[in-house]
Amino acid sequence: MSEAVIRIKFRLNGTMRQAEVLPHQTLTSLIREHFGLLGTKISCGEGECGACTVILDGKAVNSCIILAPEVDGRDVLTIEGLSTDGELHPIQKAFIDEGAVQCGFCTPGMIMSTKALLDEHPEPTEEMVREALAGNLCRCTGYHRIINAVMAASNSCKCGGKDCT
Ligand code: FES
Ligand code: FES
Repeated sequence: MSEAVIRIKFRLNGTMRQAEVLPHQTLTSLIREHFGLLGTKISCGEGECGACTVILDGKAVNSCIILAPEVDGRDVLTIEGLSTDGELHPIQKAFIDEGAVQCGFCTPGMIMSTKALLDEHPEPTEEMVREALAGNLCRCTGYHRIINAVMAASNSCKCGGKDCT
């Protein structure tokens, strides 16, 4: 017996979109397979690594453990929604400038968690940054440069990213 599809309507990166989804379909699948937005990565698939982080109604969430039907009527922001007019978002620029990207697999999730943090707390302490990124795993960088990039992108940084150590 085939499963009933559910029709949903939600805002994706600022634009109202509609889709027919399955009851068990994940938000990651909806973003990547239905809408072709491949910046949101999938790794563990069980809420442990943060590679799939998007912003749902202003909060960073692991999209692999959110069901697509749950986003009906809500607001979803993915990494593709950050740049405007071809210009990288300041957080994306800070990650590049601080050398916080190696293989890049964790980077979209790191940046989305950072965006959610800085939207709520524009001047975070380093401890707040570490806490906000605790659910985002990186196997390459050792985290130091990532923390520097977030501090450089925040209003806490007084050096404009030039002197962060
Ligand atoms: S892929 Fe979603 S938390 Fe790892
Ligand atoms: S840059 Fe490779 S996993 Fe973070």
